[in-house]
Amino acid sequence: MEELKIFCPATIANISCGFDVLGVALDSVGDEMIIRKVAHKGIRITKLEGQDLPMETDKNVAGVAGLAFLAESDFDGGFEIEIYKKIKAGSGIGSSAASSTGAVWAMNRLLGNPFPTSKLVEFAMEGERLASGVAHADNVAPALFGGFTLVRSYEPLDIIPIASPSELFATVIHPQIEIKTSDSRKILKAHITLKEGIKQWGNLGGLIAGLFTEDYDLIGRSLEDHIVEPIRSILIPGFQDVKKGALASGALGCGISGSGPSIFAFSRGAETAKKVGDSMMAVYEKIGIDHDIHISKINTEGIRIIN
Ligand code: HSE
Repeated sequence: MEELKIFCPATIANISCGFDVLGVALDSVGDEMIIRKVAHKGIRITKLEGQDLPMETDKNVAGVAGLAFLAESDFDGGFEIEIYKKIKAGSGIGSSAASSTGAVWAMNRLLGNPFPTSKLVEFAMEGERLASGVAHADNVAPALFGGFTLVRSYEPLDIIPIASPSELFATVIHPQIEIKTSDSRKILKAHITLKEGIKQWGNLGGLIAGLFTEDYDLIGRSLEDHIVEPIRSILIPGFQDVKKGALASGALGCGISGSGPSIFAFSRGAETAKKVGDSMMAVYEKIGIDHDIHISKINTEGIRIIN
């Protein structure tokens, strides 16, 4: 086995109450990559289609994650990477994470899995550091583990896989404006009050409990963010109307996907998720902003091999 073609899922990070610690993998949207084992040392990006992104190894998130992998591997050769982007950069659904995780996942596989998944998270986080200035793990962890994941701790890194309720569907709308994660992190407050903390960790605990017990009402009640959403939502035109419409159409909850501008909603069942999507699209049609919509079940396996 010298080459692998893979699907690398888009991901929703934060999930309202879990800023930088919670994420989930999607099934119906993601990039494709081909990773090839070669004799010459180093990483080369040999093809990049779908987005205008750098192909130099040290400027590309897949390249940087791959170099982090190689630095700790005893493999004597190198890898070539082809990237077929379907996820738009700056959309808020883990575009950089899809590329960096895809690279290290396939490289590990091609070498007979020398590293555990938790170690691949660390390599992929170097791609996130390049993309956003901060090595956050809430997109790369679900892409690698599948389903929902919690970053219980960054130092040391401790990723906890969380259950994925079988009837849970995500609706994600991407209004076609670009928000750089680095920019949308700069506007956040560095400190929160004890009162805000109490609300947030109450909801985070509730959401985790709801996911494990398949308690859809509890999941919905817990999808609240009193810290980040009030600040970042100002950057997203139509956010309040989209949220209001999604909840009125039956969504369990709705919030900003990652650092935005995409907005996600969770619903019980595909039919409701579709209705929620229609209500979200109606808002952007009215204000005249182009948009993409994704309706997806939860992807519990993460990255997968395709033909
Ligand atoms: N947790 C990160 C942020 C996710 O919100 O900045 C970026 O996709």
